[in-house]
Amino acid sequence: MPKIKILPHEELCPDGAEIEATVGKSVCENLLNSSIDIEHACELSCACTTCHVIFREGFDSLNESTDDEEDLLDKAWGLEPKSRLSCQTIVDEHDLTIEIPKYTINMVSENHPKKENKNSDMEKTLTKKDFSLSDSALSHISSLLKQNNSSGVRVSVKTSGCSGYAYDLSYIEIAEKDDYVLNIEDVNLYISKESFIFLKGTKIDYVKKGLNSELIFINPNISAKCGCGESFSVDQNLFQQA
Ligand code: FES
Repeated sequence: MPKIKILPHEELCPDGAEIEATVGKSVCENLLNSSIDIEHACELSCACTTCHVIFREGFDSLNESTDDEEDLLDKAWGLEPKSRLSCQTIVDEHDLTIEIPKYTINMVSENHPKKENKNSDMEKTLTKKDFSLSDSALSHISSLLKQNNSSGVRVSVKTSGCSGYAYDLSYIEIAEKDDYVLNIEDVNLYISKESFIFLKGTKIDYVKKGLNSELIFINPNISAKCGCGESFSVDQNLFQQA
C-alpha cells in the first residue's frame, strides 16, 4: 500500500503525518479519509483551489493535470511548480510527500461548513494602518447598516471574473472565530484571515462617478485589474510573504 507523508501544517496536522493511501482514490479523498481535514470547498469537483497541495516527492508519478485544473491552479495560494489540486491527483503505487499550503481561500461554497480554527480563540483587532475607510465611505456604510438593521459588514475576496479575484461586502452581526475586526465609530468591519492577505493596507473610498456614487477599493496588493474593473489579480509573492 502506498504511503502519503504530510509535512507539518499549523492547523491540519501540526506534527506532520503519514497515512496508508488507497490506490485509485484522489489524494484529497485519502487525506479526508484519514481525518486530515483539508479544505475542499467545491466537494472535489475541480471548481475551487482550496484543496491545493505541493508535492515534495512523487510529483512525476502523478496523473496529468487537465486544462481546467491548470487554469484553477493559477489562482491558488502559494503556487509552486509542483503544485496540484489534491482532488484531481489520483494515488497509484508510488509513495508521495505533500505540503499543504498555509492558506487557502474558501471561495466557492457559502454553505461549506466552516472549519473551527483551533489556534485562534480571539478576534484580532486591526488598526487603520491595516485597513481603513474614507470619511465618505464610513458615512455611506454606516447609513447602509442602519437601513439594514445591522452593525457589521464582512469584507471578503472571492475568485471571480477574468482577472481572478473580486471584492464582496455582506452584512453580518457576529464575527467568525478567525476574523480580524476593525471598529470605526458605529461600523464594525470583519475580514477573514484568508481575505486579509489580499486586503492588507487597503482603503475603501466612496466616490461619485457621473450621476452615481460607488465604493472603491484602493488596494496596494493588486498587480492587475480586468478591463471592466470587476476583478483583479495579485502578485503571487503576496502568498509567499504571508
Ligand atoms: S476541492 Fe475544489 S478543486 Fe479540489
